[in-house]
Amino acid sequence: MSKPTILVTGAGGQIGTVLTESLQKRYGSDQVIATDIRPAASSNGIFEQLDIMNRDRLSQLIKDYKITQIYHLVAILSAKGEKDPLRTWQINMDSLFNVLEAARTHNIDRIFFPSSIAAFGPNAPAFNTPQFSYLDPTTVYGISKVAAENWCNYYFVKYGLDIRSLRYPGIISYQSKAGGGTTDYAVDIFRAALDHGKFTCFLKADSKLPMIYMEDAVRATMELMECPSNQIKVRTSYNLAGLSFTPQEIADEIKKHLPDFTIQYEPDFRQAIADSWPASIDDSKARKDWGWQPTFDLAKMTEEMLGQLRKKVDV
Ligand code: SER
Repeated sequence: MSKPTILVTGAGGQIGTVLTESLQKRYGSDQVIATDIRPAASSNGIFEQLDIMNRDRLSQLIKDYKITQIYHLVAILSAKGEKDPLRTWQINMDSLFNVLEAARTHNIDRIFFPSSIAAFGPNAPAFNTPQFSYLDPTTVYGISKVAAENWCNYYFVKYGLDIRSLRYPGIISYQSKAGGGTTDYAVDIFRAALDHGKFTCFLKADSKLPMIYMEDAVRATMELMECPSNQIKVRTSYNLAGLSFTPQEIADEIKKHLPDFTIQYEPDFRQAIADSWPASIDDSKARKDWGWQPTFDLAKMTEEMLGQLRKKVDV
């Protein structure tokens, strides 16, 4: 395959910030067009301001830059989405339709769409949740992800559009902040531990959730996108696992590095969301079809997060 020319939507978000940089490193800075509704925080590479609800502007950018691949990362996440369900549905779905239609009409080669563990609900098995489970999400974000997965599959079957998708667990990163999700505590806890030596968690001590370190998440995304099309057997979205832990377990791991660190628990409305999600994920299909293999466990991730955040402060 020749070098792709990539458009990233939501490039200023938690995943977009890191993924855009990895794509630039892999394919060249001039091959990646980062877009976001907000102006770029830094000016590495090509950036275009784009409100993804503006179809004409999206089409124009695709034409101007001769785009061959789209990574569509725009979304309102689980916790924030509950504050205004109808607007969340509208943004999450209409932005997807704009991308799908633009991709179809401009013959885009490949599209990446992120789904989430939020696609699962109370009637999926909580442990080792299988690839093909009953999907009854309780959040509007989750409902939009399930609908989107099916629309991706529809465009693949009906129009042959090569769309690929992963059900990301909660993503832990030092480079970028999480925003509006139920798994955000697992990012915020590190900063709080270093800055204040204490953290108030909005989930209960024993709420086990599937998580993944950013480096693994980005590698999974790029491996999936580089895989030959005939190896991709799931066109809704692949289960993806990294590690699973509870707030208590991550706090205990942080204490190994910062012995005075303390955590307290004040569960809020996000507890019900966490309770409806899996504790761990069976990603054997991803492992079998395209060789997925995570590399970060809790100990390695904690060490890396604290080390990297310390460096950020020092600079
Ligand atoms: N991290 C997301 C959230 O908490 C899940 O995809 O909403």
